[in-house]
Amino acid sequence: MKSVRVFAPATVANMGCGFDVMGMTLDGVGDVMTVSVEEGDGLQIENLTDVELPEDIDKNVVTPAIRAMMAAFGEKRMVKVVIEKKISPGSGIGSSAASSAAAVYGLNVALGSPFSDERLVEYAMEGEKLISGGTPHADNVGPSILGGVVLLRGYEPLDIVRLPVPDNFCCSVAHPAIMVSTKMAREVLPKDIPLRTAVKQWGNVAGLVAGLALGDVYLVGRAMCDVVVEPYRKQFIPGFDELREKVTAAGALAFNISGAGPSVFSLSADMATAERVGEIMREHFANQGVGSDIYVSKVSNRGARVVE
Ligand code: HSE
Repeated sequence: MKSVRVFAPATVANMGCGFDVMGMTLDGVGDVMTVSVEEGDGLQIENLTDVELPEDIDKNVVTPAIRAMMAAFGEKRMVKVVIEKKISPGSGIGSSAASSAAAVYGLNVALGSPFSDERLVEYAMEGEKLISGGTPHADNVGPSILGGVVLLRGYEPLDIVRLPVPDNFCCSVAHPAIMVSTKMAREVLPKDIPLRTAVKQWGNVAGLVAGLALGDVYLVGRAMCDVVVEPYRKQFIPGFDELREKVTAAGALAFNISGAGPSVFSLSADMATAERVGEIMREHFANQGVGSDIYVSKVSNRGARVVE
């Protein structure tokens, strides 16, 4: 039997304007699980956390990710997954993605590393397909496995680009204690958008990528502006526009929904501002009668990894 304990970090998908194509990695918050393989055939998932997960393993995101990987591996094994620590589901910081990422990363190590990290992203996407209502996307699983900032240039075939992270890229994330499912947050989106809206959005996505490549965090901040998805999703976040005004007045360079929400995130050029913004976010949600968890960190270059 081979057993591996792994950590996969939380992530901020979309990064404002890059719906389904951009994502970045947070530090210090994520899922921890132990993955074991032995002779035999099958999959067992044990949940040691306080977080409620589906009893039926076919409804757990880990299952399609592991099945896709074992099908590609081509040999049978008994796979056991023990989930030890879990980001709350529906948080908007890639909770399901961190589980899929940890599962495939751990299984790969346990099998003797037959797959590249990029292939692991493809298998982990199967978990995202399960919870998003059928659309596989890699803007959480990509950065959770690879670390740093990840661009999905295309999906058919998957074309993953790792982008440099500016040194002064400081992020404040608030996870308010409300639940928004990815499926619901995708169902409110329009199927088509006007050309003039698309023009604004692709200018911003290009600006975001250029800002990262040039190490210009101010350009990144100007470009983190979402005119396509945010107008439909901000209704789920209490006082969203007011909070943007408050954090911008405090010196934040950008403020957006993290992934499908309800988490929000803000970009600052230094840690002192990012800490202050985190406090403003906590206060804001408290005033709305909603508790929140706040994370303040630089964007991390470290993705999934083996831990003791
Ligand atoms: N890009 C995805 C969305 C991230 O915004 O729906 C959440 O899985």
